[in-house]
Amino acid sequence: MEPTKKKSRLAWWALPVIAVLAITLYGCPSQQNLSSTGNAAEKVYVAPGEHDEFYGMFSGGYSGQMTVYGLPSGRHLYTIPVFSQAPVNGYGYSEETKPMLQTTHGFIPWDDAHHPEMSQTDGVPDGRWIFINANNTPRVARIDFSNFQTAEIIEIPNSAGNHASPFVTTNTEYISAATRFSIPLDEESLENQDVAISSYAENFKGTLSFIKIGDEGEMNIDFQILVPGFNYDLSHAGKGPSADWSFFTSYNTEEAHTLLERNASRNDKDFIAAVNWKKAAELVAEGAGREIDAPHYRNYMDHDEQRAKSELIETVKVIDPIENPGIIYYLPTPKSPHGVDVDPTGRYIVGGGKLSSVLPVHSFEKMIAAIENEDFEGEVDGIPVLNYDSVIHAEVENAGIGTLHTEFDGNGYAYTTAFISSEIVKWSLETFEVVDRIDTYYSPGHLMIPGGDSMQPEGKYLVALNKITKDRYLPTGPELFHSAQLIDISGDKMELLLDFPTDGEPHYAQGIAADIVKERQIKFYALEDNNHPDAVKSEAETRVERNGDEVHVYMTTIRSHFAPDNIEGLRVGDKVYFHVTNLEQDWDVPHGFAVLGARTSELLVMPGETRTILWEPQKPGVFPFYCTDFCSALHQEMQGYARVSPAGSDTPISFGTGE
Ligand code: CUA
Repeated sequence: MEPTKKKSRLAWWALPVIAVLAITLYGCPSQQNLSSTGNAAEKVYVAPGEHDEFYGMFSGGYSGQMTVYGLPSGRHLYTIPVFSQAPVNGYGYSEETKPMLQTTHGFIPWDDAHHPEMSQTDGVPDGRWIFINANNTPRVARIDFSNFQTAEIIEIPNSAGNHASPFVTTNTEYISAATRFSIPLDEESLENQDVAISSYAENFKGTLSFIKIGDEGEMNIDFQILVPGFNYDLSHAGKGPSADWSFFTSYNTEEAHTLLERNASRNDKDFIAAVNWKKAAELVAEGAGREIDAPHYRNYMDHDEQRAKSELIETVKVIDPIENPGIIYYLPTPKSPHGVDVDPTGRYIVGGGKLSSVLPVHSFEKMIAAIENEDFEGEVDGIPVLNYDSVIHAEVENAGIGTLHTEFDGNGYAYTTAFISSEIVKWSLETFEVVDRIDTYYSPGHLMIPGGDSMQPEGKYLVALNKITKDRYLPTGPELFHSAQLIDISGDKMELLLDFPTDGEPHYAQGIAADIVKERQIKFYALEDNNHPDAVKSEAETRVERNGDEVHVYMTTIRSHFAPDNIEGLRVGDKVYFHVTNLEQDWDVPHGFAVLGARTSELLVMPGETRTILWEPQKPGVFPFYCTDFCSALHQEMQGYARVSPAGSDTPISFGTGE
């Protein structure tokens, strides 16, 4: 295959000739992969007013958010604020949502979100929640599918670069989350120590965290497994026969601490760690491991009070494989593997052979036999290394260059992205031979088939998540959006249907049949269930109260006015809290709130909801506030004034709406 576009050294005069020849002979390059039937447009066309068949949930990468697309149309439906502040609706700016971004490093307004992962029941996505990791300041978030809002964020201590995260077990018993970077962890306290970086080999360690998921989705770190100081890249839980196990890829088994592109690429094989989480959990329940100080925050939305709360958890349970044999084994895997993917039957474990010429497929059955026979080729820090030849089931040849991730169609085929050769390769889970391949534009990281990492894939569409877009769209200066490509996989030959630009950097995505999620949607919050302590349920209750330098404005919105809309008696130096309750009880009627000079974003308040914004006026004068969301024909009339007097003035508090 041709590598990603490179400038060729042709004489300048030859270019037009070649272009004309190429178009004559092969057609416009972007059309090459469209099917001869030419019905791609029909296959992705969703008529106005019709709904898409699938929700596509894409990570926002360095936007820190999650984006929602309809498939097959590629229409952008929504962006869910998760780890980053969102001025579009006030997430992370409003007093109610700020606690969601609390960490032991303080308030963190941004992160790098990589892998959306849906909750599963019996190995099938069930449409309850979708989880996503924060890579930079290690955290995992849970988003509730009933309102597409972030419901909970838990911080992960003793971790640095939460990349191999969050991957669910088949009944959402656990989410696994492994550290990407190893760090110097003190033997006793596991505190990140102040030591020389060159002492890597002796001091640096990694952890694999297992987060227990409660019936309501609540997350708690049940235990962490202490592992050697490698880099842990990706993970997937087993399924069916392998359901009690989770698999993690590692690279940098060389334990390099500088220039990893060279120094961490020396070993012919690195490892996939196979972790018997069921056994580890049982041991921990019986008292194995030790409780260590590891302060971390759990932030969650209190649905009753409609505001987020933060709780500091002081400790975590750590379990050492040396003292607890049988919980972890290493499968040697060529070479700096990236993804690790388990097929729908749970029998095969596919490593992404980033620097490997073959795509390695391990057999779970053989792995168990090798463990029983103690067929080991060595050990690392007390962790047995299984014999490669005893566990490998097949090496897929000619699977492209730079193979990263694999998903499955449920019909006996696997699909793997090849980053360097810019293609998707389809191969058989029976013959382990490549049966089809299709170019992508350009370098694909992950790919996604709805349900494609579960026991029940919906093998109709595949989405390639391409990292380099170059010339695919109208240019937008040096910065270009990344791109998704929708590919029809229902037939023998893959068929490219659609390109659509994506927001941020979607490392991974998951898809689910729209019917499963659609019926669960909350359309508005019932006002009578709003137990926010600062809510007001009618205009009669609206008021302004001064308490020292703090002023609380208890305000309501309804089409098309604020109550109160005239406020006097504020002073420079005050902290003015606007508690805005939206009295509407109808779908899709939010009201916005913004006030001149507020050092924060707007509020977007959903029907039946209360949201609070802090304003610290800096100068005397009269300052307008207004509704930011076009709510009615008289939206432009939805405004008010706040009068600010100089510090120390004795203008009394007064307020009202209408005369
Ligand atoms: Cu309320 Cu515009």
